[in-house]
Amino acid sequence: MKNYIKVDEWKIIEEGFDPHVNKISESIFSIGNGRMGQRANFEEKYTGETLQGNYVAGVYYPDKTRVGWWKNGYPEYFAKVLNAANWIGIDIRIGNETLDLNTCKVKEFSRILHMKEGYLERSFIAELSGGREVKVHSRRFCSIVDDETGAIFYSVTPLNFSDVVTITPFVDGDVKNADSNYDEKFWDEVHQETGDKSALLVMRTKKTGFNVCTGMMFSVVSADGQGDYPSQPFSRNKYVAHEVEVNGVEGKEITVRKYVANLSSENYPVEILRDECQKTLRRIAAKGFDKMLVEQAAAWALKWQESDIVIEGDAAAQQGIRFNIFQLNQTYTGEDARLNIGPKGFTGEKYGGSTYWDTEAYCVPFYLATAPPDVTRNLLIYRYKHLEKAIENAAKLGFTNGAALYPMVTMNGEECHNEWEITFEEIHRNGAIAYAIFNYIRYTGDKEYLTDYGLEVLIGIARFWRQRVNWSSDRNQYVMLGVTGPNEYENNVNNNWYTSTIACWCMEYAIEAMGYVRESNAEKYRSLVSKLHLNEHEETSAWKHIIDNMYFPESKELGVFLQQDGYLDKEQTLVKDLNEAERPLNQKWSWDRILRSVFIKQADVLQGIYFFEERYDEATIRRNFDFYEPRTVHESSLSPCVHAILAAKLGDEQRAYEFYLRTSRLDLDDYNNDTEDGLHITSMAGTWMSVVEGFAGMRVRNDALHFNPFLPAKWSSFSFNILFRGAILNVRIEREYVTLSNQSEKPLTVCVFDKPYEVNGGGEVRAEYKPVAGNV
Ligand code: BGC
Repeated sequence: MKNYIKVDEWKIIEEGFDPHVNKISESIFSIGNGRMGQRANFEEKYTGETLQGNYVAGVYYPDKTRVGWWKNGYPEYFAKVLNAANWIGIDIRIGNETLDLNTCKVKEFSRILHMKEGYLERSFIAELSGGREVKVHSRRFCSIVDDETGAIFYSVTPLNFSDVVTITPFVDGDVKNADSNYDEKFWDEVHQETGDKSALLVMRTKKTGFNVCTGMMFSVVSADGQGDYPSQPFSRNKYVAHEVEVNGVEGKEITVRKYVANLSSENYPVEILRDECQKTLRRIAAKGFDKMLVEQAAAWALKWQESDIVIEGDAAAQQGIRFNIFQLNQTYTGEDARLNIGPKGFTGEKYGGSTYWDTEAYCVPFYLATAPPDVTRNLLIYRYKHLEKAIENAAKLGFTNGAALYPMVTMNGEECHNEWEITFEEIHRNGAIAYAIFNYIRYTGDKEYLTDYGLEVLIGIARFWRQRVNWSSDRNQYVMLGVTGPNEYENNVNNNWYTSTIACWCMEYAIEAMGYVRESNAEKYRSLVSKLHLNEHEETSAWKHIIDNMYFPESKELGVFLQQDGYLDKEQTLVKDLNEAERPLNQKWSWDRILRSVFIKQADVLQGIYFFEERYDEATIRRNFDFYEPRTVHESSLSPCVHAILAAKLGDEQRAYEFYLRTSRLDLDDYNNDTEDGLHITSMAGTWMSVVEGFAGMRVRNDALHFNPFLPAKWSSFSFNILFRGAILNVRIEREYVTLSNQSEKPLTVCVFDKPYEVNGGGEVRAEYKPVAGNV
C-alpha cells in the first residue's frame, strides 16, 4: 500500500518526483475518451522505468499464445490491446543536453489530474549541468468532444541562463508491447509525411491489418509573442518529427501547442485516412488549445451532472469515488457498439484490453444509472453481434443446434483465453450476458430489446445450458459437471451452485422472453422461429424439465448453499487464521494447495444471492454471508463490492463500509501492489455499486426506484445523480432526511424505506431517514 497521492476532492495530486512510483503514477494519471487512451508518460525523453502506453480503441493484435499442451477447442491467439504510436512526444534539448528526468535533478515536480475539467497537468524544475535550471509546465487531454483528438500545451522557461533550446515534437510508431509473447513488434509502417508544422504516420498492424493514422500539427511561440518559430522536418523509419531551434532567453517562456489526431481504419476507408486525419488536425488547430479545453471542461461538466457522487465529511472517500467515476467515463462512452470495457481500460496492457464478464456483471449497473440507455444498449448489442461467433465457439466444443457459448475473453467475439479450466469451464459468463439483458430491461423498461435482439441471444444461451447439463440416474436429477465458478481458486468442480443457479434462471428467462415476443409481435416471432429453427414446444419442455429437476448442492445442517459438491470435504479453516505473510495466496502458495483449500477468491454463492436476492429471505442471505465471507480472501478486485452490497442489505454497516474502503482507493493507494500494470477499471464500477446499491440500497422494482439507505458514520451526507426513464434524480442522504430532487421535467414515483413519494418535474421531496437493519 502506498500513500503518496494528496487528498483533494476534485484533483489527483502527486508532489515531488519519485522514480520508484513512476509506473504507478503513469497508470493513475491516465487520460482517455473512450476512443483512445494514454498512460501518463512524459512528453519529453525519459530513460527511467516506464510503461509506455497509447491505446486506440478496437485495435488489437492476435499474439500467438504459449501453452504447454494444445487441447482441441483452444483458441490460437490471445488478443492484445496495442501500444500504438506515441503522439505525446516533445523532446527538449538545452544547448547540447537532453532534458531527461532520469538524469537530471528534479525540483518542484507535480502531476495533477483535474477530474472536473478532464485534463492532466505536470510541472517541474529540472537542474541540468552547470546548475542551469529550466522550468516545464504541461497540460494535455484526450478530447471527449472530438474523440479522435488530443491536445498538449507544453512550456519551457530557462530560469537562470540563456541558450539554444531545441524543441522536437514527434510521432513515433516504433513502439512495442511490454507484454508480447515472442518479443515481436506488432506494427508496420505504411506511409509517412511531413508538412508545414505538421507530420503524420500511417501504421498497420501485422495480421489484423488495422491502419491507424496518427498526425500532429504544432506551433512554438515565445511568451512575448515572438514566433511561430520555423521548423526543420526530419524522419526515419516509423518516426516523423520537426526540430525547432529557439534562442532561449533567461526568464522567457517558450510555449508549444501540439494538436494530435488518431484515426483508425475501423472508422474510415484506408484510402481516405490521411486526408481525414489532416482535416481533423486543421479543424482542431484552428480552434486552438484554450478553446478545446473550455469545451472539454463543459463536456465533463455534463458527465459529472449525470454521474457524480458527492460525499461530505470524508475528503479521501470523496476523492476515491470521483476517481473511479472519472476513469469509467474515460474508458467507455457508449457511442460505438463495437467497443467494450477491458478490465484495465486504456491504462495498461494486462488482460489484453479484452472484454470479460466484468462488463455485464459489474459495469452495466453503473452505465445504466449514469448515462442514457443507449450507452448500455450498445454493450448488449456488442454481444448480439458476437452471437454467431459464440455459436461457432460452442460448436468447436461439440455443442449443436445453435447453442452459444460466449468467450471468457474476447476482442471480436472469438475466444482468446486458453487455460482449459477457464476457457472450457468458466462458463458462467454466459449467465452474466443474459442477466445484463434482464437488468437493462428492468432498468429502462425497453422490452422491445427482446424482440429486436435479446431473445436470439437468450435462446442461444439456453440451448447451451440444456446440452451442458446431464441427467444423473444416480441422483435422479440433472447435474453440471466439470465447472469453474467465479471462484477461480477451485477448478473442474461438479455442481457449482452459482453456475447451476444462473443456468436455470437463463432458461426460465428465455421462456419468459419467448412468451413476450410471441404475444407482442407475432410476425417477428414467426421469423425468429424460422431463423433459429426453433422447436418451441420441444425445446421449452426440455428447459422446464431441467429447471424442475436440477440438483443444487446445499447443506441442510448449516443452512447454506454449497459452492460445489465437494466444498465441505475441504479442511474448514478461516481467513482470519491465515498468516498474513502467506497472502496474497496466489503469490505465496502453490496452485495445488490453493485448489485444495477452502479459500475463495471472490464472491461465488454470494454473487448468485446478489443477482437473485428477491428469491431469498434475510435469514438465508445472512447464513450464507456469514459462512462464505470468512472463507473469502477477496483476491479479485471484483470481490469486495458484492460483499459491501450484501453487508449493507443485512444492516451490517461497519462491514459494508470496510468492504467499500477496499475498493474505493484500491488504485490511488496501490493496495494490491499492482497499479503499475494499469487501473482496475471494471472493479471501479463495483465501487460505484457499493455506494449506490450498498449504502443507498437502490433497487429497481416494478418499474420504480427504491432506496433503503444508510449513512456511513464517518460521512455527514452523500448524494448522487441517477438517470431513470428520462428523469434525472438527485438523491441526498443526510442524518435526518433523504431528499429527492427531480432535475428533469418528468415526474417520478420513488420509494424510500418502502414508502412511495411523488417527485414532480423540477420538484423536491423530503423523506424521513430511518434506516432499519436488514430492511432492504
Ligand atoms: C477474476 C475474473 C475477472 C478477471 C478480469 C480475474 O482475476 O477472477 O472474475 O473476470 O480477473 O477482471
